[in-house]
Amino acid sequence: MKFIVVENYEELSRKASNIICAQVVNKPNCILGLATGSSPLGTYANMIQNCKNGDVDFSGVTSVNLDEYVGLDITNDQSYRYFMNTNLFESINIDINNTHVPNGCADDLAEEGEKYDALIEALGGIDLQLLGIGLDGHIGFNEPDDVFVGPTHMVDLDESTIKANARFFESEADVPRKAITMGMKSIMQAKKVLLIANGKNKEEIVNKAFFGPITPKVPASILQLHPDLTVIYSKN
Ligand code: F6R
Repeated sequence: MKFIVVENYEELSRKASNIICAQVVNKPNCILGLATGSSPLGTYANMIQNCKNGDVDFSGVTSVNLDEYVGLDITNDQSYRYFMNTNLFESINIDINNTHVPNGCADDLAEEGEKYDALIEALGGIDLQLLGIGLDGHIGFNEPDDVFVGPTHMVDLDESTIKANARFFESEADVPRKAITMGMKSIMQAKKVLLIANGKNKEEIVNKAFFGPITPKVPASILQLHPDLTVIYSKN
């Protein structure tokens, strides 16, 4: 594991973007695993700038996102598909048809999970997976559990996740209680994993996840077993 501590969010975002852009330069038709939430916003802003400058070309890239709320469709501005379109995809030259987010409105979410895993497999797996980390140690929406869950699956969101994500909604009551998330199998099989975390409030969970025991009670701790993991942390 490479554990990089940086001065501030700007530096974190620049470094993370550089790692992702280097992946695209090295393999223009790569498969990027992407995340939502507040942590990657600066990373995406840097990627957009690099694309606008002509330094990186996303036209051959395919993306697979980690997760989606159950019941929110593309027209809902809190859906993760909407987030990705507005914060990244519409501002870079990726082919929107090659961007994938689990469908949280599928009639059969178990089947949607199977289809999503089959898609990732058919693409040949993920070259680089970008992750944030929740205050309870979740990655994607893999919440603390008794076991690490492998396939893409539906989850009940933890109270702490609902509270943390309420900042994006009008009220806590509006936060969906369920989500569909990529499981640990596709994440751990990604060739490279890049996790970004910022803020004093993430310090404790980052320490537990990367320097504590490996346990499904701290889902991100499984990443200690990944052969090519980079963590970038900024206290500010
Ligand atoms: C989002 C995701 C989540 C977030 C995590 C941290 O696609 O998978 O695991 O990365 O909840 O969220 P922020 O970055 O908002 O602190």
